[in-house]
Amino acid sequence: MNKIPVIIDCDPGVDDTLALMLAHQMEELDIKAITTVAGNAPIAYTFRNGRNVMDYIGAQVPVYKGAEKPLLRTLQTAAHIHGEDGMGGVVLPASKQSVESEAAWDAIHRIAAEEKGELTLIAVGPMTNIAIALSKYEDMKDLIKRIVIMGGAAIGGNVTPCAEFNIYEDPEAAEMMFTSGIPVYMCGLDVTMEAYMSRAEIEKLMALGSKEAKLFHDVEQKALAFYDEMGRPGVALHDPTAVLFAAYPELFQGEWCGVHVETKGKITSGKTVTDLYSDKQFDTHNTFIVTKVDREAFVQKIFDLMANY
Ligand code: BDR
Ligand code: CA
Repeated sequence: MNKIPVIIDCDPGVDDTLALMLAHQMEELDIKAITTVAGNAPIAYTFRNGRNVMDYIGAQVPVYKGAEKPLLRTLQTAAHIHGEDGMGGVVLPASKQSVESEAAWDAIHRIAAEEKGELTLIAVGPMTNIAIALSKYEDMKDLIKRIVIMGGAAIGGNVTPCAEFNIYEDPEAAEMMFTSGIPVYMCGLDVTMEAYMSRAEIEKLMALGSKEAKLFHDVEQKALAFYDEMGRPGVALHDPTAVLFAAYPELFQGEWCGVHVETKGKITSGKTVTDLYSDKQFDTHNTFIVTKVDREAFVQKIFDLMANY
């Protein structure tokens, strides 16, 4: 099988942790690196968590540190879902791997060049590292085959009525990415709110018995309580959705359209403005907005992957 070379850019983050665990079990993916960015928690935590998670699951993959704040804005973390340290209260043993000194954006550029245009970048945190790579390296946009993101929404938001967290956090960076010319596959709230697991399904998953299944269960408890309070049927698996889309697109449906990010709006800042449901009059249609998931098949795939631990 020809594996897909990928870098996962993330801000672990409880659902980022699940995405890393699932990606490690996908034989379709060849994970070249993990790059980390400030978002759900400050960079010191997201970098540490990324390293600890990869070590805990036995993945020999280098983890790089990226941006400590959005391009122009102040960092706003999401402690109410992810806890102050980004792991929802779960403490993992410290990674024993050596610490990488190369910056995330330099690693992204170097690896993309090594992969000669075949690299898929999966971005499940704010897009700051990607924007820095795009502005630092002129050839960056020609070296990446596609970017699969968790971010945005054609309709609605979760931080504000208009904006999803990863885009809201750094709208300028997201706009740079959407207008770079690189094809973007957007797994936003339209699909991720439907890609959920119920409390009962998560309990059943823990019964698989591995330490990774227990981590899956434990790390999601704070988020699960948050979704319970909202009256939702389960916890949205935002970041796993992007990783599963990268490997199993047949589980999803969507459509090509144009996207721009609102960077000036007073109450609409961070909105992913799309012509998906309107006149298709935007200049380019380089974004595939994922709108639907076969939830049963999605959850089954998660069970299959986690059963390999
Ligand atoms: C996104 O924001 C973060 O809190 C999650 O990790 C996910 O990437 C959902 O809006
Ligand atoms: Ca994330």
